Amino acid sequence: MPGSYPEATRRSGKLFERAKKVFAGGVNHNARFYQPYPLFVSRAGAQHVWDADGNRYTDYWMGHMALILGHSPRPVVDALRGQIGRGTHYGMGSGLSVELAEEIQKTVPCAEMMRFCNTGAEATMYLVRLARGYTGKRTVIKMAGGWHGYNTELNKGVHRPFDKSESAGILGEEQAFVKNVRFNDLGAAEHTIKEAEGDAALIFLEPVLGAGGCVPADPDYLKGLRELADRHGVLLAFDEIITGFRVSLGGAQGYYGVTPDLASFGKIAGGGLPLGLVAGRKEIISLADPTRKENFVSIGGGTFSENPLSMAAGLATVRHLRRHAGSVYPMLDKAGRGMRKAVDKVFAAEGVDAHTTGLGSLFLTHFGVAPKNAEESAEGDKKARLDYCLELMTKGIFVLPGHPGGISTCHTPQDLKEFVEQSGKFAARLSKAR
Ligand SMILES: Cc1ncc(COP(=O)(O)O)c(C=O)c1O
Repeated sequence: MPGSYPEATRRSGKLFERAKKVFAGGVNHNARFYQPYPLFVSRAGAQHVWDADGNRYTDYWMGHMALILGHSPRPVVDALRGQIGRGTHYGMGSGLSVELAEEIQKTVPCAEMMRFCNTGAEATMYLVRLARGYTGKRTVIKMAGGWHGYNTELNKGVHRPFDKSESAGILGEEQAFVKNVRFNDLGAAEHTIKEAEGDAALIFLEPVLGAGGCVPADPDYLKGLRELADRHGVLLAFDEIITGFRVSLGGAQGYYGVTPDLASFGKIAGGGLPLGLVAGRKEIISLADPTRKENFVSIGGGTFSENPLSMAAGLATVRHLRRHAGSVYPMLDKAGRGMRKAVDKVFAAEGVDAHTTGLGSLFLTHFGVAPKNAEESAEGDKKARLDYCLELMTKGIFVLPGHPGGISTCHTPQDLKEFVEQSGKFAARLSKAR
């Protein structure tokens, strides 16, 4: 990339000016905004995206980490080509959706049954409704820093001070029964269950806190939560929208060996097209059966649920991952572990206090903190992190500032080496400037 960020990305700058006139803040997802303005993409393929100025980046954002096989991978492109002439939207069931559900049932420990929808936010909304319908209780315990999409009730305590609504326009009453607790702190969850005095329906968490700092759960923590939930008659659910099909074929529940009662999935399960789903124990999911007379839980789907393009892309991806799980996951694990360690090493060599958290192919570098939860993550040096990401962009590497990165099967050892080298150069400059 020639020159500084504004010099090299003039067309993105101009598009942003136009975008601001049609979209609030110029974006269609809050996470996509960063200073001075975000890049605008013109095309993508494998591990690369090209911006509107024609600059090429090795992409580690990978469509919000949805693209584990890279951009436009062959199995997905072939499946979509095959499907596009057979209908783009049925509004009816199809063999494709049954096949995708059967694939997921085979691979995800808790997925006795499921319901498809279109986004992760919808899936987490339905999950909460099912949990309350099943238990007849109200209180939902989520994690401080836990992000479950733009669903109304759970939009609370995602950012500091970690106990307030994230948004105007949401009534206090709508979130009155949502409690935030510290991640990786079993005592905090137990305390809140007790405080709810028999009204706790659900403990709901991302096994790797995503937006809250890319922090993996301690293995004993998830085991402890399972025991705690069972002891108190509370449901345990994992939000696997990032970790599903990412940290292992069976998601984080497969990786940690802890089976939740319910789980939400999206991202990778849709193979790069829109998909959300809530899966779990048959006894709970079957409350959504529309022929049910009693205690029926009304959840969607929606107009575009089991859209055949999403089904075809999801099926191609999940099937590919199942067939190649023996090579894909060890390779991604090794790449992620190696990268986290090497990045920390180049910062340490320059005397910069930086720590890269993550699990499997996920990573996020923090400055000045080595967080175990979102509160600690929020203490990190945000300016250093933005400078780091912008500097990487000028070197042709894209990591969305402040968000985890995800390595795909397309990234080569050379890509990863380049990432570490550029991190080292940034570390040297940062160290000199301090
Ligand atoms: C853990 C988690 N849950 C839920 C969501 C929401 O999914 P969607 O953006 O598809 O609504 C996200 C999205 O980033 C997520 O990371």
